[in-house]
Amino acid sequence: MAEPIRVLVTGAAGQIAYSLLFSIAKGDVFGKDQPIILILLDISPMLPVLEGVVMELQDCALPLLNDIIPTDKEEVGFKDLDAAILVGSMPRKDGMERKDLLKANVAIFKSQGAALEKYAKKTVKVLVVGNPANTNCLIAAKSAPSIPKENFSCLTRLDHNRARSQVAMRCGVPATQVKNVIIWGNHSSTQYPDVHHCMVNMSGSEQACFEAVKDDAWLKGEFIATVQQRGAAVIKARKLSSAMSAAKAICDHMRDIWTGTPDGEFTSMGVYSSGNSYGVPEDLIYSFPVQIKNKSWKIVDGLAINDFSRSKMDATATELIEERDTAVTFLGV
Ligand SMILES: NC(=O)c1ccc[n+]([C@@H]2O[C@H](COP(=O)([O-])OP(=O)(O)OC[C@H]3O[C@@H](n4cnc5c(N)ncnc54)[C@H](O)[C@@H]3O)[C@@H](O)[C@H]2O)c1
Ligand SMILES: *[C@@H]1O[C@H](CO)[C@@H](O)[C@H](O)[C@H]1NC(C)=O
Ligand SMILES: *[C@@H]1O[C@H](CO)[C@@H](O)[C@H](O)[C@H]1NC(C)=O
Ligand SMILES: *[C@@H]1O[C@H](CO)[C@@H](O)[C@H](O)[C@H]1NC(C)=O
Ligand SMILES: *[C@@H]1O[C@H](CO)[C@@H](O)[C@H](O)[C@H]1NC(C)=O
Repeated sequence: MAEPIRVLVTGAAGQIAYSLLFSIAKGDVFGKDQPIILILLDISPMLPVLEGVVMELQDCALPLLNDIIPTDKEEVGFKDLDAAILVGSMPRKDGMERKDLLKANVAIFKSQGAALEKYAKKTVKVLVVGNPANTNCLIAAKSAPSIPKENFSCLTRLDHNRARSQVAMRCGVPATQVKNVIIWGNHSSTQYPDVHHCMVNMSGSEQACFEAVKDDAWLKGEFIATVQQRGAAVIKARKLSSAMSAAKAICDHMRDIWTGTPDGEFTSMGVYSSGNSYGVPEDLIYSFPVQIKNKSWKIVDGLAINDFSRSKMDATATELIEERDTAVTFLGV
């Protein structure tokens, strides 16, 4: 058996973590022969709840789970990490201004970035889920200068999976027969779900998505709006945010980092923009199509972008620039 890896989940007493921890602990993400030490970080008032989560994990009697470490201390939580899944963040409270919310999150991700810098392995893979995920990820990366920026990513896989599934349902095929949808930009309602490079395996052959769906108006209108607003639709129906599907997307994202994407397929991840791809400005965490091999991602370059796509990609970049520029003013505070 391999040496155990150390995996941190923050926000570990919350609802996404409750759907996530079992999958990680039973080997769905890092492999069925990879022992794991799970480190569970939450804030001090949640420690009693976390104790219950620990009991349940123990009661699962899982062969790969070598140890469980609940903590409210960064020096314990971030020590020698191989992977960090940062789910916890400051939620919006009634009457809270957008700027104050951003400020609170900058404080959290600055501190956690600094803890990664100080305590984690330099090869740690960091996935930011807590919203605003793109900007939180950027702040964490900036606060951990000795860890390569490429090792930080944020979750847009839930949006990617939503887009894939919408197309699959429309075509009456399983989601596995739909590949290469793209989510561009921010994990928000300005994200652009793009199917211009998507292929659908239908009636025995691979077809371009527009040909398979045969309804351009739907693909350019309702489809995009449905994916963009899916989070809100789930909250409206469930009175709680999407946790099961978010947990599944986290597993997909981290598993792809660990084991790579299938040949000829790409996925969507919020990654550091160095300004060299698709005219997206540098120094943003922006969701791109990526392929992953040997634990390294590469943006899929050279895809044709039409005017319809261009304007949507620019709009979501503009939103991220504005958020970043406000966020960095809080870094010195
Ligand atoms: N990127 C995505 O696709 C995506 C999808 C769904 C949800 N989210 C975001 O994920 C986050 C968590 O969602 P949830 O439903 O689990 O929320 P939740 O409120 O159920 O749980 C959040 C947990 O984080 C903890 N927490 C807060 N600050 C912390 C800190 N500084 N360190 C450690 N833990 C801290 C809280 O105490 C709580 O236990 C939210 O920000 C949500 O918006 C992102
Ligand atoms: C970007 O998306 C996040 C969700 O990750 C959202 O909270 C934030 O408000 C968006 N940014 C802007 C400037 O709208
Ligand atoms: C497409 O689907 C058919 C079954 O309907 C399968 O035999 C074939 O391998 C699939 N092709 C690809 C490229 O996945
Ligand atoms: C995979 O990455 C590691 C570490 O970056 C490197 O040492 C190794 O040579 C790479 N292997 C391949 C096949 O590229
Ligand atoms: C993380 O950084 C290491 C170098 O420390 C590099 O080999 C690896 O490819 C990076 N991982 C990702 C996901 O980019």
